[in-house]
Amino acid sequence: MELTKQQILDSLAKVASPDGAPLTASGALSEIVVSDGKVFFSLTVDAGAVPRWEPVRKRAEEAVRAVPGIRSALVALTAERKAGAAAAPARGAAPRGGAAMPRPAPRETAAGVPGVESIIAVASGKGGVGKSTTAVNLALGLRDLGLRVGILDADIYGPSLPKLLAIKERPQTLGGTRLKPISRYGLTVMSIGFLVDEETPMIWRGPMVISALTQMLREVEWGALDAMVVDMPPGTGDAQLTMAQQVPLKGAVIVSTPQDLALIDARRGVAMFRRVNVPVLGLVENMSYFQCPHCGTRSDIFGHGGAQHEAQRLGIPFLGEVPLHIDIREKSDAGLPVVATEPDGAHAVIYRDIAAKVRDQITGAPARPAPRIVIEA
Ligand SMILES: Nc1ncnc2c1ncn2[C@@H]1O[C@H](COP(=O)(O)OP(=O)(O)O)[C@@H](O)[C@H]1O
Ligand SMILES: [Mg+2]
Repeated sequence: MELTKQQILDSLAKVASPDGAPLTASGALSEIVVSDGKVFFSLTVDAGAVPRWEPVRKRAEEAVRAVPGIRSALVALTAERKAGAAAAPARGAAPRGGAAMPRPAPRETAAGVPGVESIIAVASGKGGVGKSTTAVNLALGLRDLGLRVGILDADIYGPSLPKLLAIKERPQTLGGTRLKPISRYGLTVMSIGFLVDEETPMIWRGPMVISALTQMLREVEWGALDAMVVDMPPGTGDAQLTMAQQVPLKGAVIVSTPQDLALIDARRGVAMFRRVNVPVLGLVENMSYFQCPHCGTRSDIFGHGGAQHEAQRLGIPFLGEVPLHIDIREKSDAGLPVVATEPDGAHAVIYRDIAAKVRDQITGAPARPAPRIVIEA
């Protein structure tokens, strides 16, 4: 049964939604019901988009019928958000927490950043799950695939790229207001930590974040980039929602640890991006299992497979498992990310694999394997 479901998801991953993203990453897919060779699921889309989705619905049915062992497939288009899709109010309704924050609006309002092809958010339902570590190593993995990559630290509550990338200098201004980003390990880097003083009380950070974010997107000389990875603030509150909406995102990667509680937060993250129509590119399970630094033995101290199961439940791709390993922690915190400093190590392989899955989704098709670039810090 599980195998069949995975085969169905695989076949649906090859069907493109109207904006080009794989159907499995569109946020429209419901739970898939498989029973006695019959498959049923629905696609939940905005009422106005139904005509564009009708051909997708047909292609999805055809794709599923082609899976061996499937006798019939019924795919329904629903123009309403299903109750479970978002714990948050529907788009256009007043956000929780009062009327002070801007209302979610269609994401078309976020203009692109000139020269930047794809902006990818790395997000988590809560802090401390390894979001920044994942963002940095994902960016480096994309770099290794031959992409020109930037990384933007938008985590207002704990900007950490200066530490993770050992950046001591401040960006220079280029005549007037434009900022020159920092270059590290072949990545073009900018951190909100450069713009918002550490002393700024938390309560002010929320409102400031939008102007600081706009500034970092529009007033920084990013140059030509294939991908920009954005380390988002953790959580799913109004500030995060507004940011998800302000940045012209191609998609979002959600980082979670395997525990049930973290997965509940991850689910909220998925719902948040769906609410602002940003495709979820998939889920990374960080600190997935403990790997002994001495003998290499693996222990599933938090249980195992939680995130993979959750991804399947949510109809989003599972991007990979990163072990809890002392090297990752020590290297990260010393500003020596593993993908850059131990490019032949097992961890780098895992991150590059995750990066390849992300790359395939943002470019639509697997590209030729690119040579790995090793740049000394
Ligand atoms: N896979 C991992 N193995 C070991 N330590 C990790 C791993 N991922 C993250 N860490 C460590 O956990 C702490 C929190 O990670 P960080 O990336 O800063 O999380 P977040 O950005 O979600 O708050 C850091 O000390 C980091 O080095
Ligand atoms: Mg962080």
